[in-house]
Amino acid sequence: MIETLRNVLQVKGLCVKVKTDQGMVPLVHDVDLTIKSGTVHGLVGESGSGKTVTSMSLLQLLNPKATSIEGSIRLNGRELNGLCHKEMRSIRGKEIALIMQNPMSAFSAVFTIGHQFVETIRTHTALTRKQAIELAITSMQDVNLPEPAELMKRYPFQLSGGMLQRVMIAITISLRPSLIIADEPTTALDMTNQLQVLRQLNRIRSEYGTSILLISHDLSVIAEMANEVSVLQHGRIVEHSDVYRLFDEPKHDYSKQLLATRPALMMDKQVKELIVS
Ligand SMILES: Nc1ncnc2c1ncn2[C@@H]1O[C@H](COP(=O)(O)OP(=O)(O)O)[C@@H](O)[C@H]1O
Ligand SMILES: [Mg+2]
Repeated sequence: MIETLRNVLQVKGLCVKVKTDQGMVPLVHDVDLTIKSGTVHGLVGESGSGKTVTSMSLLQLLNPKATSIEGSIRLNGRELNGLCHKEMRSIRGKEIALIMQNPMSAFSAVFTIGHQFVETIRTHTALTRKQAIELAITSMQDVNLPEPAELMKRYPFQLSGGMLQRVMIAITISLRPSLIIADEPTTALDMTNQLQVLRQLNRIRSEYGTSILLISHDLSVIAEMANEVSVLQHGRIVEHSDVYRLFDEPKHDYSKQLLATRPALMMDKQVKELIVS
């Protein structure tokens, strides 16, 4: 079934280097990654293995003066590597969205949630202010945020981390991107909010056919959510397989180590109850 799906993201030979006093230092080596429509691709690896550098380079969010990105990054067939800042800005958010670990950093402290939500919608669509407000409210209802109209009047610091994370997901949903990159989206959240966020991501995937690159060091999250998994070690993909095969018969020593050191899958039952519907 999965074989017949369209490739939404196709990355080939991605190499990322950073400028240092000692010269250009490679952080990501020759990464290949394919994500099909409506599927979740898990990217796992211990802290410092290059997960965030990889995701930032896909979105062209690294400072071009300090880094170099080689290789091909195709989104729905279009090459992203080498696009100018302005072209990339119109693609980010609308076609490819990033959900970050720390939701606070995605918001400006000086504008209300509503202002930032509505401005983001209006930047990427032709909607009027009134239509954008309506879309913001329905998207917030979609992620079970209480009293959206009231929340819109608040400032980011007045919301909990879990609520802000859901606002960020609501913004993402409202633009219906074909690919969401979620970099440790639940790491900063308590268990209840983790489950909520995962459930919403899964709902977007099944309702809109959105593809998701789910980055996590938490293998229980990957086990529940991902169709395919790539394992990153020292900036290289050392194993790629479907999720069942990875957990049943990991090939690479590093994957075996990761699986051996994972915390007991205590969340499994709860996650399943909430996600599978
Ligand atoms: N601006 C930078 N300059 C030098 N090294 C960096 C820079 N940003 C990240 N790194 C290094 O790149 C490696 C990968 O980092 P990162 O992608 O954040 O890892 P992960 O997200 O998997 O924890 C780390 O060793 C980190 O120290
Ligand atoms: Mg990271």
